[in-house]
Formats: sequence, structure tokens, C-alpha cells
Amino acid sequence: MIVTKAIIPAGGLGTRFLPATKTVPKEMLPVLDKPAIQYVVEEGIKSQIKTFVVVTGKQKNTIEDYFDTSPELEHFLAARKKEDLLEGVTKIINTANFIYIRQKEALGLGHAIWNARHVIGKEHVAIFLPDDIITGVTPCMAQLIQIASQEKCNVVAVQEVPMDKASNYGIVGIKKQFSPNLFQIRELVEKPRPTDAPSNLAIVGRYVLSPNIFQALEDIKIGSNGELQLTDAIQHLLLSGEKVFAYKIQGTRYDVGTPMGLLKANLDLALRNPKYSEEILEYLSLLDREMVVMQGKAQALSKSVSAA
Ligand code: UTP
Repeated sequence: MIVTKAIIPAGGLGTRFLPATKTVPKEMLPVLDKPAIQYVVEEGIKSQIKTFVVVTGKQKNTIEDYFDTSPELEHFLAARKKEDLLEGVTKIINTANFIYIRQKEALGLGHAIWNARHVIGKEHVAIFLPDDIITGVTPCMAQLIQIASQEKCNVVAVQEVPMDKASNYGIVGIKKQFSPNLFQIRELVEKPRPTDAPSNLAIVGRYVLSPNIFQALEDIKIGSNGELQLTDAIQHLLLSGEKVFAYKIQGTRYDVGTPMGLLKANLDLALRNPKYSEEILEYLSLLDREMVVMQGKAQALSKSVSAA
């Protein structure tokens, strides 16, 4: 099995980043010097993906512009011999193909994937959620593709989460464990209450799915929240007899779908990057000292208030 096409759903409204996402797509918000979506495209290229089908929506045109040539900028950088910056803006667009599909209405992740059905055809497809940046020695998607090819199955990436966070995720129930990181799935449940969750293994934003996922998305109904759920469609595939495996990701996952997650990802990746680490460490220790002084002042103030 060869997987050369990937879907990147980027049609959501990004309400957790309002007001910024009124005009800036959440997928374009920067993590250090690159937009979040570039991290997943780079992971895809390292995993031998050749074509990215990006599902967009309203206010998402900058994604198309970003993965396009920019003659004026390229000429400017070439004339000033800024080869490294020039490579930064041209490398991806010279390596991969991009196809854009417009999701007319944000009816959920499953609906976004279903919109790409005509471009994918009868092949297994990789899916990257651009909210999840996953770093590690071997690209996460390359590992999923390898398992899908070996086992002739669907594969979802999972991570252990605290039980009280289960209701934020799709959670998998396990039929059989093959190795510390590889499981066959018995069931998938979207956003269960912690008491109903079949395990603490949560689905994170990487999948390799059979082309039958598109029919499954047609067969299932829109959920109670008005969205078509990808997890429900994978459960449908499972019930129709397809094998679905879960692979526990190696490496670090950054959830950049919320302001706090984006902030943490920027901080963490800056600390690991020689270009930024020294200065950011210095800044953090300065902040720490200021916090100690401020806490001391606050304590002194509350003592004087209670004594008065
Ligand atoms: P999220 O639920 O995290 O994104 O979907 P959202 O809906 O844009 O964000 P909030 O909750 O309002 O803050 C995960 C991924 O699926 C895409 C999103 O763009 C994101 O990359 N998505 C979601 C779609 O493409 N279409 C949709 O209808 C919903």
C-alpha cells in the first residue's frame, strides 16, 4: 500500500481564537517563524506525501497564497543574496502539490474530510489535523503509513490523556495489544463522559484511512452538535468489518488549537531551538525574579490590610 495523498482539514471557524480568527485562519497563526499548518506539511513531505488536499472555508485565502509562488518577494530575496530565506519560501512549493477544496459550511471535521472524496478516489489517505504539531525523531505519519501497509488496515494516532479530559477527545477501546505502542481497536467513542470512556487512549490528529471512509461518512448521521464526526465514521468502518489499529505516538504533541496551547508550543519549541533558547531562558528567569518580587509585595500588602 502506498499513501501519497493527504487531507488537511482547515475549514473550521477557529472560535477559540476569536477575535484574531475573524480574518486570520487559525492554521496560519505562527509557531516561532512558521504558520502551524507548515509543520504538518513538513511532516507529510518527510512521510513521502506528494499531494496535500487542503479543505478551506471562508476567510482562508491566505493559506492558498502561502503555498504559492511569490515572484516579487523571491526576486527581492535573490537580489539581496538571502538564499536561506529564499529557500524557506520556495522549498515546500517546489516539493509538493496543493489542491484546495472549499467547505461551504463548517459542518464538522467529518464533513470537511467528505468534501475531499472526489480527489482521493480509491486510495488509502493520510489525514493531518493542523491543530496538532507532533515532533519526534521519526515523523508520526511515516509510522502510521508503515503500520497501515504492513497490517492492511486503518490506523489512528493516540495518546494517553488524564481520564477527566476524555470528554474532549475521541477515545478508543482496545481489542488486542500487539506491542507497547500498537493496539487493535474494538470501538471508538466520540467525547465520552469520563465514566463511559473505554480507556485513556485519545485520538490525536493523525490518521491513515481506507477510501471506504467516504461512504461511511455518508452512511452516518450528523451528530447532536450539528457536526459530522470523523470518529463516528471510523466506528462505522469498524462495524462493517474493517480493521482499525491505534498507534501510541512517540515524541511530543502540541495542541495549537487554543491560545494557551499555542503559547506553550511557542515557548517549548523556542527553548529547544538554538536560535532562541538562550534569550528566552534569560527572559524567563528575569520574569521569574519579577514574579518573586511582585508576590512579596502582594503578601506584604495583604498583611498590612489585615493588620489595619
Ligand atoms: P476544531 O474543532 O479543532 O477546529 O477542528 P475549529 O472548529 O476551527 O475550532 P474552534 O473549536 O471553533 O475553536 C479540528 C480541525 O478540523 C477543521 C479545523 O479547521 C481544524 O483544523 N475543521 C473543523 C474543518 O475543516 N471543518 C469543520 O467544519 C470543522
